[in-house]
Amino acid sequence: MATVCEVGSVPEAFADLVVQRAPRSIALSGGGTATDCYRALRARTPDWSGVEVFFGDERSVPVDHPDSNEGMARRVLLEGAIPAAIHSLATAGTTPEAAALAYDGLLCGYGPLDLVHLGLGPDGHTASLFPGSPALEVSDRLVIATGDDLHRHPRLTFTFPAIASARLVVFTVAGTEKRDALAGVLAGDVALPAARVRAGEVVFLADAAALRA
Ligand code: 6PG
Repeated sequence: MATVCEVGSVPEAFADLVVQRAPRSIALSGGGTATDCYRALRARTPDWSGVEVFFGDERSVPVDHPDSNEGMARRVLLEGAIPAAIHSLATAGTTPEAAALAYDGLLCGYGPLDLVHLGLGPDGHTASLFPGSPALEVSDRLVIATGDDLHRHPRLTFTFPAIASARLVVFTVAGTEKRDALAGVLAGDVALPAARVRAGEVVFLADAAALRA
């Protein structure tokens, strides 16, 4: 069962939640909402010394590429911080499949993450789990290489089993363009990948623009 919180500012509510929960392990997301959330969190100057940072999905591009989720997180959130570890997904292997296999092993060995941050696309995707993708049916892997002709770059992504093992999943959803997707997810429309997310605890932080019809 998910908890839906209507908040005035999604980025500030995300920063509040992370500071309050103080996860020892966190998987970061990508996209504009995540960028805003990480900017707000950085302003709280959290203590990263005991935190292991992971990435819930990534585009298969160099970290210095403008589309890199890790590159964004390093610029916006982690610059000057010294986490216990930053587990790069983009550089985990010399090919997307090798990176996925290595990260799968890393997650298997590490165990459940305290917090997985997820965004929501207007089509109901989350991480790099897109509608109709074979990646949605993977049950024997925690991390896979995926991609299609509709989305830029080959991708690396947590699978549903990886997300389900998290103690807490936090969705951050802002703006009217997410309204229909969020309504469908909350109504349990399993054609929308985000509606299939399960975890120890699932919290949606959403603003009025995304929540109200
Ligand atoms: C990615 C993200 C993706 C993102 C959503 C929302 O790598 O693109 O992980 O799942 O979180 O597409 O992105 P916006 O906040 O930019 O709409």
